[in-house]
Amino acid sequence: MNTSLKGKTVLVTGTARGIGRACVEEFVACGCNVIAHARRESDAFTSWSAELANKFGVVVRPIYFDMADSASMKAELRKLITEKVPLSAIVNNAGVPHGGLFQMTSVDKIKEVFNVNFFAQLELTQFLYRYLVKLGGGSIVNIASVSGINLSPGNCAYGVSKAALMAFTKTFAAECAAQKVRVNAVAPGLIDTDMAKMMDEKAHTEMIDASPMHRLGLPHEVAKVVAFLASDDSSYMTGEIVKVTGGL
Ligand code: NAI
Repeated sequence: MNTSLKGKTVLVTGTARGIGRACVEEFVACGCNVIAHARRESDAFTSWSAELANKFGVVVRPIYFDMADSASMKAELRKLITEKVPLSAIVNNAGVPHGGLFQMTSVDKIKEVFNVNFFAQLELTQFLYRYLVKLGGGSIVNIASVSGINLSPGNCAYGVSKAALMAFTKTFAAECAAQKVRVNAVAPGLIDTDMAKMMDEKAHTEMIDASPMHRLGLPHEVAKVVAFLASDDSSYMTGEIVKVTGGL
């Protein structure tokens, strides 16, 4: 359990399921308040947030916007700034999968994937950056992927968007270290979520076979690393890409 997160407030995107959901569960278990983003409101999401808040005695505040809808993203984030929510970390987790050979993938499709996996993360980061600096600094954790490191066939949209996110992580980390903002990325291997289930079965099996641990990762195994990077326990780390891949 990460005690340095107690009483802090973290924004996590894409928390309706999978790794994002596990991140929220990890943060609240550490006594951390969470701004939990989802694409759209649902009774299930609202009651899950309320139950967690109740169980751990923290604030879990749902916010809703489509990552690809810049205007509604900014409108929701502006509310946090206006209300002076004391943000100490941002986890850019929301993302979409895509697999397909370059010659079979339209550039419009690649742009669509980049809009969610890359440009939306940049837009959110840029919008909140000055506020974070005003609050005294903080930590930004970008959820990338090992697919952006081991760039294999079929990754012209997803893998390349994650490679761009990792490159951005490094360049921005170097720019903002003086402002006490740290920027790191987590590059998970194959993690047992809805996204992994959408993968081509052959590629799925090959990836598990290639992994020394011969199994899928679990969302909470990624969430623990995210919590570490979001917290002061990683205070001398910035511009790092931390792989969580079972040794892949
Ligand atoms: P998931 O599909 O279970 O969850 C993705 C989340 O992002 C969902 O909550 C979804 O609603 C949200 N999202 C997607 N597009 C959105 C949009 N336009 N607006 C708002 N929200 C949107 O996937 P998973 O596995 O939890 O993925 C989380 C992150 O981890 C993603 O960035 C993914 O690329 C990354 N990742 C996942 C791996 C895996 O094997 N599951 C491996 C490596 C990276």
